[in-house]
Amino acid sequence: MVGRICGTGAYAPPVFASNEDLENVVDTSDTWIRERTGIARRHIAVEDTAVTMAVKAARQALANGKIDPEAVELILVSTISPERVLPCTACEVQKQLGAVQAVCFDLNAACAGFLYAYNTAQAYIRSGMYKTVLVIGTEQLSKLVDWTDRNTCILFGDGAGAVVLTGEENGRYNMTAHSDGRKGEALTCRTDGKIKMDGREVFRFAVKSVPECIRELLEREQLLAEDIDYFVLHQANRRIVEAVAKRLNVPPERFPMNLEEYGNTSSASIPILLHEMKQKGILKPGMKLVFAGFGAGLSWGASLTEW
Ligand code: COA
Repeated sequence: MVGRICGTGAYAPPVFASNEDLENVVDTSDTWIRERTGIARRHIAVEDTAVTMAVKAARQALANGKIDPEAVELILVSTISPERVLPCTACEVQKQLGAVQAVCFDLNAACAGFLYAYNTAQAYIRSGMYKTVLVIGTEQLSKLVDWTDRNTCILFGDGAGAVVLTGEENGRYNMTAHSDGRKGEALTCRTDGKIKMDGREVFRFAVKSVPECIRELLEREQLLAEDIDYFVLHQANRRIVEAVAKRLNVPPERFPMNLEEYGNTSSASIPILLHEMKQKGILKPGMKLVFAGFGAGLSWGASLTEW
């Protein structure tokens, strides 16, 4: 059994902060942010929370996949910015969706979180334990950001994305995943604190480890990079995405990006991008997609999915 994505959804709160807005908050400029990151604006949750954004993205994914909430057997939420520690976000989402049959839990693998949740869903489906799984990435990073720190506050944004997976006999899926806690100090956030980051260290880690794990995945599946239709990467920085494309010797057009609009939404970035690609009609049955995530932990990985 393989999990096939049958529905996608995304939500970003209506309020956003442009680079110009941030010029009034810290010593930065629109030109610097665009050149170094590719980001132009980021959405900020004022009324919304990780729960409300997750519910909106999930409703859309279920409607899109024509799945009744009561048919969902497992809800996995990836978040580092829950509204509350208890109950978990997945249970709150379950309540609001009326997904009464579902087993629910959250997981935290930072910006690799959606990928890890997706892999967890695939593992449950492959084992035969569950057939219909809702996977959500939702983040209200604006509350974890130190708005006086120009090294970090320009990067992050709020939003949610969701996919619904259903188990089918045919389809292709494989994964690689890694963690290295020894390098964890590069990107941290205490439960009572704000995000702290060694940007250069994280940049170096991403441009080295992401191509390596994608190559590992392709070798496992005996595929070449040119066999992949789209590489859907965690949206952290345009220069990281472009560097990965270059190292894999793949034209950048096959690395779609939307970070200009959202900044880095951590767990939410891959499903938001995937939803936008689906809405634009660029995903066709049989296409091969590679998802790749990376972030604090350090944690990183890639997975192959057949659309
Ligand atoms: N506006 C203006 N100048 C800034 C700035 C900002 N927002 N942030 C840093 N600078 C300055 C620095 O102080 C430094 O000045 P100096 O040369 O006088 O010391 C200069 O710009 C260069 O800083 P540096 O840190 O070398 O920039 P960079 O090219 O590495 O870009 C990041 C910084 C954060 C954009 C980049 O390192 C990055 O994207 N790292 C990965 C972060 C990430 O993706 N994290 C999440 C992973 S999930």
